[in-house]
Amino acid sequence: MQITSFKQYEEDYKKSVENPEQFWGEVAQNFQWRKPWFKVLSWNFNEPNIKWFEGAKLNITENCLDRHLATNGDKPAIVWEPNNPEEESVTYTYKMLHERVCRFANVLKRNGAKKGDRICIYMPMVPELAIAVLACARIGAVHSVIFGGFSAKSIADRINDSQCKVVITADGSYRGNKQIPLKDVIDDALIGCPTVAKCIVLTHIRTPVSMLKGRDVWWEDEVKHVNDICEAEEMDAEDMLFILYTSGSTGKPKGVVHTCGGYMVYAGYTFSNVFNYQPGEVYFCTADIGWITGHSYIVYGPLSQGATSVLFEGIPTYPSPSRFWDIVEKHKVNTLYTAPTAIRSLMSFGEEPLNGKDLSSIRVLGSVGEPINEEAWHWFDEKIGHGKAPIVDTWWQTETGGIMISPIATVTPTKPSFATLPLPGIQPILVDENGNEIEGNGVMGNLCIKFPWPGMLRTTYGDHERCKQTYFSTYENLYFTGDGCLRDEDGYYRITGRVDDVLNVSGHRIGTAEVENAINMHAGVVESAVVGYPHDVKGQGIYAFVIYPEMHGEAELSKKDILQTVTRVIGAIAKPDKILFVSGLPKTRSGKIMRRILRKIAEGDTTNLGDTSTLLDPGVVEEIIAAAKKL
Ligand code: PRX
Repeated sequence: MQITSFKQYEEDYKKSVENPEQFWGEVAQNFQWRKPWFKVLSWNFNEPNIKWFEGAKLNITENCLDRHLATNGDKPAIVWEPNNPEEESVTYTYKMLHERVCRFANVLKRNGAKKGDRICIYMPMVPELAIAVLACARIGAVHSVIFGGFSAKSIADRINDSQCKVVITADGSYRGNKQIPLKDVIDDALIGCPTVAKCIVLTHIRTPVSMLKGRDVWWEDEVKHVNDICEAEEMDAEDMLFILYTSGSTGKPKGVVHTCGGYMVYAGYTFSNVFNYQPGEVYFCTADIGWITGHSYIVYGPLSQGATSVLFEGIPTYPSPSRFWDIVEKHKVNTLYTAPTAIRSLMSFGEEPLNGKDLSSIRVLGSVGEPINEEAWHWFDEKIGHGKAPIVDTWWQTETGGIMISPIATVTPTKPSFATLPLPGIQPILVDENGNEIEGNGVMGNLCIKFPWPGMLRTTYGDHERCKQTYFSTYENLYFTGDGCLRDEDGYYRITGRVDDVLNVSGHRIGTAEVENAINMHAGVVESAVVGYPHDVKGQGIYAFVIYPEMHGEAELSKKDILQTVTRVIGAIAKPDKILFVSGLPKTRSGKIMRRILRKIAEGDTTNLGDTSTLLDPGVVEEIIAAAKKL
């Protein structure tokens, strides 16, 4: 199923559009099914109702583990690199990983979890995180992984939304030179989570924790009580595999639902092709498993293809900005898949951290999560790839399950800052505001997808109407991505950024409404408006305009209080980079905040603010501009 020439890409693409069922049916033959499907695809985008490989039975862990045992059992599946480089790295072969997953699957059962139950995972980037994810899949429980940077309140909201029964966590995590007390955060969250009966705690940083009798148990104790034999649960192709919460333009994150069969096929197919993965190679994706990139391209995609996946606990700059390059050298990494924000951050340290590092093992480079600017692209190409490693700029989303528009390494000619061409099976179209297709090349529009692909979301947990409204109602019969896009003269796609009220800060998706809600929870705040602005390292920074009428004491202190509030409500990742206190916000007569104006002010471009005469109080704009100049 691997594409090895551009001609083959063109042929496969053509086939995938002309006869999608045949195309995906053939791709799916490369996976292991307990029972075949009777229909490859049935769909409509109105309800929406999408089913892939209907009637088929499988367990994704048999594809990620069992099927490799006979021939590749001793091959490294996961290579774990700890936060502290002084500590030993740990390698799990497929055999070892299989054994650990089965054992932990039995622990889950022993703690009352069964097929269909939702399980929340809040863990550091340790091998046990991958083991926990796979153990859920093994028994047919639905995992909902929450990134370690989210607050107790965010966790509680997510746990309650999907009524999780079990939580898997650790005493704490390391992040550079910081320690984060994960169990403490979970304890705070669980005060408001009546559905959680059990909490399984891994010892990692050895910090004291409080263990609640009857609810909390230690991972290390539990695994002693069970054996390592656990037959995989038989799942329907359309049974739920996982939920992953992501931000949208409303204040409440949605639980994106992915199912077993289609997701597996799509993650595996795209991994194998986009990175041109070759047997025996070492692949390193620097994302966190708390995000979709980690789900699809640290765990499921690579393991389904029998690959060796590096799992890194730390951050790019600890203990020094050479860390990534040391890992590449140490583990002879062949593919490095990272985010533009990390590239820009490492670029800012100059070439010194690269001196003496052997990066000759690198064959393919990848970028994900946000638009990559040309400067960062060239630096990545020249300094890391030495001009010899193709860069795959992969565009996709939590909702798409896997990579959608991207070069295929060694096959597709690349172009800086372009995600280039759709993968086989993906039919992108650009539309104008009214949903009319914009045809031809050298055009810009809103990016939609007009035909289903196996990895697409099926619903948003507990609220199908929301899925319909968010993705399938803006334009009839199209999946709307929320991204703006350019198709250049060569037909190459370049994603220009979100066209809705979603920010992309360091590759993390954050809704402006969510941040506003959090800021507004501060007792002194009457109202706020949040917009994004260009940020050298993060891509986008968060700029908050805040009405805080009765400020006692210093403005700086009030800002700190607001940051603290946002950290408590959402998590540190959503902290505004700039806060500007204002006496009013630019609103239309109907009370709508004119974000367009605020965005311009945040960008520092006040030359052409457009028509402000429709504002309720046009004077407020001058006042905000004057205050912004002083910030
Ligand atoms: O705006 C696009 C941007 O990230 C959004 C999806 O965010 P999330 O669901 O968190 O998934 C991130 C990892 C897949 C998209 O709507 N985005 C993602 N990849 C790219 C990108 N923007 C430009 N170029 C990319 N390669």
